Amino acid sequence: MAHFHALVFLRHPELRAMFPAAMDEQRTRLFRALRLCASRAGDPVALREYLGPLGRRHRKYGALPRYYASAADCLVAALARYGGSGWDGRTEAAWRRLLALVARLMAEGADEEARSAPPWWQAEVVEHRRATRDVAVLTLRPDQAYPFRAGQWAAVETPWWPRVWRPYSFGSAPRADGLLTLHVKAVQAGWVSNALVHRARPGDVLRLGAAEGAMTVDHAAGEDLLCLGGGTGIGPVAALVEEVAERGAAGRRVEVFYGARRAAELYRLEELRELASRHSWLTVRPVVSEPAGAPAGALVGDLPEVVARYAPWHGFAAYLSGPAAMVRAGAAVLRRCGVPEGSVRHDLAARAD
Ligand SMILES: Cc1cc2nc3c(=O)[nH]c(=O)nc-3n(C[C@H](O)[C@H](O)[C@H](O)COP(=O)(O)OP(=O)(O)OC[C@H]3O[C@@H](n4cnc5c(N)ncnc54)[C@H](O)[C@@H]3O)c2cc1C
Ligand code: HEM
Repeated sequence: MAHFHALVFLRHPELRAMFPAAMDEQRTRLFRALRLCASRAGDPVALREYLGPLGRRHRKYGALPRYYASAADCLVAALARYGGSGWDGRTEAAWRRLLALVARLMAEGADEEARSAPPWWQAEVVEHRRATRDVAVLTLRPDQAYPFRAGQWAAVETPWWPRVWRPYSFGSAPRADGLLTLHVKAVQAGWVSNALVHRARPGDVLRLGAAEGAMTVDHAAGEDLLCLGGGTGIGPVAALVEEVAERGAAGRRVEVFYGARRAAELYRLEELRELASRHSWLTVRPVVSEPAGAPAGALVGDLPEVVARYAPWHGFAAYLSGPAAMVRAGAAVLRRCGVPEGSVRHDLAARAD
């Protein structure tokens, strides 16, 4: 992948400015994307499903369709150089066919979205509030209508790290005033999260990509909902609960397990409990892994393990959001508790690359 990027920048030096200074993550992502495309090469429907959104995401990077043919040439050259004895005329022809299809499907995805949405939105920070020592709640005003659903996320770029985009979930359902909220936790040595928590102030302007993610509620289906939110992962869960409250629960139950290491990190508990006191369909259970100072009624243990204690969960649609390890462990536990794979939704799935 490094050789591929070197070839691209040699042939098109003007493209280097599109990419962030550090390219290691990009190399890994591109490699995974290519491997995924190769494994789905015989399945145009699955390819379109993956590449449409990828093409749409490339609009905010400024990637124009005319560069794709050249990128394909550079990729073939890099593969030929490192493909070893397995590389021959047939393999090259197969890769060229696949890359032409990849470029077409990405361009189609981008064109489709271009009819109704800008490549990115500018969003002004109108409020910046510290919820805990390392979590900030940012309220943003987009420069034009920003369509999204509760449970979705957007790529965010700050003015301090140009071209470094990171995904953040919306912390509340769409509001009548058009404002958006992000709940961001500063991670150690993290570029974007620290900028958003420690540096951003009202008046700063961020860039947002289009909303993405399939962790949305089907209000017509009416099945009961089981929601696991760990840390700032409670953001999309709270947004889903707000959306159900607005549209009406229509007989469904909503069970929320809100996990954190320590009680002080459960900064949305009061708000969720207040909602539960107004809606009989909603149950909120705090879960802490360190018992000291736990709030009244808190359960102690790791979030997935605590949820398993309340099994069976047959008939529930499950929504998981939080640190990747928690989401993976949670999904595995739920499968064991009788929730079919198709009824488990999480935001890691949206980022197969
Ligand atoms: C779909 C999706 C939705 C997300 N929603 C939110 C959200 O609502 N709120 C939120 O705060 N974050 C959210 N994240 C995580 C967020 O995108 C960033 O990964 C996180 O803020 C770190 O970015 P950074 O640029 O600060 O760190 P980087 O510069 O990318 O990383 C710096 C170091 O921190 C490590 N690191 C990266 N992420 C984490 C982490 N989460 N925990 C511990 N170590 C880490 C890296 O391995 C690296 O060593 C979401 C992620 C996904 C995939
Ligand atoms: C074969 C076609 C291509 C594939 C499969 C591909 C794949 C990817 C993937 C998987 C990412 C990771 C981030 C994300 O998912 O949004 C990415 C990022 C990016 N791509 Fe592409 N890409 C292709 C072509 C191009 C072209 C032609 C350009 C430029 C003209 C481009 C510019 C970028 C930029 C600027 C980023 C952001 C990098 C970063 O944030 O580190 N891509 N691409």
